[in-house]
Amino acid sequence: MSQVFSRRNLLVGAGVVAVGTGVTYYLNQGGNKVGSFTQPEVLASNNGVLEATLELATVSKQLGNAKVNMLSYNGTVPGPTIKVRPGDKVKLKLTNNLNQDTNLHTHGLFVHPNANSDNPFIHVMAGESFDYEFDIPADHAEGTHWYHPHLHGQVANQVFGGLYGAIVVEDDTTPKVSEDRVLVISDASFDSSGNLAEANMMGLMMGREGDYVMVNGEIQPQGKTKKQAVERWRIVNACVARYLALQVVGGEAKLLGLDGHKLAEAEDLQNRVLAPGNRADVLVTVNTDKVSLIYNTVAHPDAGMMGMSSKEYTDYPLVTFIAEGAATVIAAEVKFQPLPDLRKSSVSTRRKFTLAMPNHAMVMGAATMEGMFTINGEAFSHDKVNTTVSNNTVEEWSIVNTSTMQHPFHLHIWPMQLISVNGEEVSTLRHQDIVTVPANGNIVVRVNFHTHTGKTLYHCHILDHEDLGMMGVIESV
Ligand code: C2O
Ligand code: CU
Ligand code: CU
Repeated sequence: MSQVFSRRNLLVGAGVVAVGTGVTYYLNQGGNKVGSFTQPEVLASNNGVLEATLELATVSKQLGNAKVNMLSYNGTVPGPTIKVRPGDKVKLKLTNNLNQDTNLHTHGLFVHPNANSDNPFIHVMAGESFDYEFDIPADHAEGTHWYHPHLHGQVANQVFGGLYGAIVVEDDTTPKVSEDRVLVISDASFDSSGNLAEANMMGLMMGREGDYVMVNGEIQPQGKTKKQAVERWRIVNACVARYLALQVVGGEAKLLGLDGHKLAEAEDLQNRVLAPGNRADVLVTVNTDKVSLIYNTVAHPDAGMMGMSSKEYTDYPLVTFIAEGAATVIAAEVKFQPLPDLRKSSVSTRRKFTLAMPNHAMVMGAATMEGMFTINGEAFSHDKVNTTVSNNTVEEWSIVNTSTMQHPFHLHIWPMQLISVNGEEVSTLRHQDIVTVPANGNIVVRVNFHTHTGKTLYHCHILDHEDLGMMGVIESV
């Protein structure tokens, strides 16, 4: 190969990608049995306390026409939805009945990163249990988050295997809707005996994409809705590496928030791109007899050159609801409380983070790529604090990507306000916990480090890249 990576530009930084306008339905694609739409079981708090067990075990389940073996929390893929309110105390016993170690991360919750709260440095050995306990702050915003394992080196394998679930924070402002649904999108691949496929070198390098794209653990499930119903869809991109360009047909779709943070006002969903790990809170008003969430592949800038063979999805209905009968709730009131605008804050410290990965030539013949994915030239090390920040300060970070693929940059606990993408200012006010850094590009974010102190992580949310070292430790003191 004379040139390993192409340099074509990808229109993703802005968050909107242009795709074909004609929408075709092809349910039952590939002869697969269409699943029925189900919601994960809900573990809800009661009188300010949620006490529950999450038990990890292998599960054998029907997926389309195949019987497959996956990893699960409480026997289902996705795991149960954790539903809490601001001010709640959450006590989760993680019981690890897998033959591998794991732990638990509550991605997006503004909770303490230390001790037995959202501490990604905890190790829960095979066969052991751990009691997590966290306090949801009394002023926590309502919104959609998720949980998944965070044991360095195993995160991609375990998430690909089926270990993820939604977290819903509800408060008195949560809109009353006809249906409030969790739509957890994930992907996985299996070998001919239905066991989880291992990622090959290319999969690790580009981030693995599964052969099956699922919603709540089913392929193209179908459910029911009502005519003119107003629904809330809590969309979680739980894929290890897949970007999702999403739109709704058969209904009007308004984006209310990203990563659990409300926008300043509702925006049209139209072809919004969710990076791996992103969530979208969407208000859908059904206006025909069938409403679908539609997915289009986000073209990979290196795909052709890298000989990637992953399937292209064009106007693919991930999930469809058939409208029957009249809805009783046909309007919803959404409150957009203004977020703090960090553009107005004074910045205490400016930092630069450079994300780098090997090119094809560098990994040819290498036994492992571990440590070749770096931030500021260093791969993740347990014993090192890479970045120390001061509590109660606002920092400005420019995040630079020297590679020919995009990386979704994630910071735990404290949300980032996106300031610019490739030097172009972002005019809207948005707080996110995962922001895409375009191929050979850069972004600027601001972060208000407040309330919590302690040690946690920032990393690429292409989880293969995280496992291979593209992660750093941050301590707020
Ligand atoms: Cu979704 Cu560090 O995690
Ligand atoms: Cu996280
Ligand atoms: Cu990456």
